[in-house]
Amino acid sequence: MLYHPDHRLWLLRGPATAYAIRLAEDDSVQHVHWGAAMTLAQAAELAERTSPAASSFESVAGADELAAEGGARFGPPSLLVRFADGTRGVQWRYAGHDIDGGHLRIHLQDRHYPLRVTLNYRVHDDSDVIERWTIIENLDDQAAGSAVTVLRCDSAAWTAPHRTRYRVSHLVGGWNSEFQLRQADIPVAETVLTSRRGMTSHHANPWLAVDDGTAGEDHGEVWSTALAWSGSWRVTLHRDPVGRTTWTGGFGHEGLSWSLAPGEALETPVFAGLYTADGFGTASRAWHGYVRRHVLAHPDETRPVLYNSWEATGFDVDEAGQMALAARAASLGVELFVMDDGWFGARTSDRAGLGDWAPNPARFPSGLGPLVAEVHRLGMRFGLWVEPEMVNPDSDLYRAHPDWVLHMANRDRTEMRHQLVLNLARPDTAEWTHSWLDRLVADHGIDFLKWDANRPFTEAGWPGHPDPDRVWIDHTRAVYRIMDRLRADHPGLRIEACAGGGGRADLGILSRTDQVWISDNTDPVDRIGIQHGFSQLYPAQVMSAWVTDSPNVATARRTPLRFRFHVAMAGVPGIGGDLTTWSEEELKESAELVAAYKRIRPVVQHGDQHRLRGDGTLTAFEYALGDDHVVLAWCPTRPYGHGPAPLRLAAVRPEAVYQDLETGRTYPGAVLLHFGLPLDMPRGDHASALVRLRRLNSTPGGIDPVAAL
Ligand code: DGJ
Repeated sequence: MLYHPDHRLWLLRGPATAYAIRLAEDDSVQHVHWGAAMTLAQAAELAERTSPAASSFESVAGADELAAEGGARFGPPSLLVRFADGTRGVQWRYAGHDIDGGHLRIHLQDRHYPLRVTLNYRVHDDSDVIERWTIIENLDDQAAGSAVTVLRCDSAAWTAPHRTRYRVSHLVGGWNSEFQLRQADIPVAETVLTSRRGMTSHHANPWLAVDDGTAGEDHGEVWSTALAWSGSWRVTLHRDPVGRTTWTGGFGHEGLSWSLAPGEALETPVFAGLYTADGFGTASRAWHGYVRRHVLAHPDETRPVLYNSWEATGFDVDEAGQMALAARAASLGVELFVMDDGWFGARTSDRAGLGDWAPNPARFPSGLGPLVAEVHRLGMRFGLWVEPEMVNPDSDLYRAHPDWVLHMANRDRTEMRHQLVLNLARPDTAEWTHSWLDRLVADHGIDFLKWDANRPFTEAGWPGHPDPDRVWIDHTRAVYRIMDRLRADHPGLRIEACAGGGGRADLGILSRTDQVWISDNTDPVDRIGIQHGFSQLYPAQVMSAWVTDSPNVATARRTPLRFRFHVAMAGVPGIGGDLTTWSEEELKESAELVAAYKRIRPVVQHGDQHRLRGDGTLTAFEYALGDDHVVLAWCPTRPYGHGPAPLRLAAVRPEAVYQDLETGRTYPGAVLLHFGLPLDMPRGDHASALVRLRRLNSTPGGIDPVAAL
């Protein structure tokens, strides 16, 4: 991190990239460069090149790092404030900066009002990801001062350099269809990606990538960003008519406002950005590395193969049924048994009982103790489903505390899935929630929680509270705090994030959970696309994926067991089918496939992931760790009965020789790279292949590919 006082310029350097910003004459912080490595002198040269305003209708400002309303600025603002006297916007005065290792703080104050904003930038030695966030403080006198209204406070704005074309890649979806990758030219307009649901959402994920329309998996410049926030959010892309593309993002959606009392500060979540010169695959691997080293709490652990009872039993859970499933799961090599919804209160359907977190006495006459003990005796860890932010109106909790939910005076309380959202921004509600979870985990030795959330916010009010929109921030922060506290007090506890499938997957939740249930859709054909999209930002080791019954409960599609397993093996597989109905043959094949996964698991969970192909007929991933390579390939359909063409690998060395660990066959690296790996797949639709390769040697002078074959 370097500072050039003459040019008032900062240069942040990653291992392969540089990011430069400077103070303009009006003391606003302006973007200079985000891309290839550069020296301070080169960046200073760039910083001089400002273009004059083309007419009296154009802004003279460059690209702001955090565009505050004020002066000739007409793009989407990152910061909107209103002072007690009605004045809006800010006029900056630079108030110094400090650099602490990889952390740069730039302090700005309003020239007239007691408002301070700190722009934070943090870089790590081992990553090109830049973390950015904002702190806004009302410096007014605590006794006699007045509040500032914050109408928008983004974490950061990002700027791509001038290109003739701009394309955005982003993830869209819905329940059962999350993480669909979409690519589109960025229009000369403002494009909003957002969630107004109080959660990250199934519908848009707070990741995007910008390129000039020519980047591919392994070539081309890509500028990508990800917001570490699990509540409502908004990212606004702005391509202006003269060709500049910027985007600003942060927590909250439009129309909310927060009041900042004298002496109070508001800190935004991190909005992280990454420049890569070599395509989307390189960008994904750089993000995966960043998530492992700087987001996840236990990145080096190996995630267990789990069993989950949901698709097998629905709400019909009881001790005997769960024990029968547990015995079968253990015999297949499952390592973690998770009992899903239906174990507590009057929860025999989705209509009642949510919020009453005591085991249902008719279903578990001696409590959870016997089941937990049996699961542990079988050599598995025990996991339990919870939905701590929600309540059925038909519950003892709601009858006792109807005011604990999000609601507004004179408005109906909209039910979705017969439930309402608890207002965890309330300290009493949050404290109660923490204490039952803490007791549950402690009393039963629970190893794993699946933390679910099955509806968005509506009527998100907080009657009687002076700043009711705070709920959009403080609810999410309370969820974070409860998780953080549980994990600190129960160091062995692992958590799976879930919100009706993939409704809450983001870098914020991942810094306090270990894996994500990314979709309720367990159909392997649909799942290929969902997993492909998820991999853009998130590493395989956090992607939970179950093998369930055929025909699939969501799509009625029939698929072979081996295909279902091979698709789930792309991440952390579990079994979610009704094992009591599986034939001896299916159970035997499942045990073999679980064992096969355990052989490839270190490479899948801890290796580098390469998306080799991703079209309708063949999708394939390669994982590489040291000398070991795993290839997973899936053909959902085989037009004309044609077999797949040889699959060109990505992460092999041309001069080395690789051996297929099942067949013993060897391949020169050059052949795998340029010609491809022949895929031995069964005929027909829903075919798949799993290949393990090991590098045998390295012959720098090259080898004769034909001889090696
Ligand atoms: C939604 C989750 O995504 C499912 O896996 C299951 O846990 C149900 N909720 C239970 O209600």
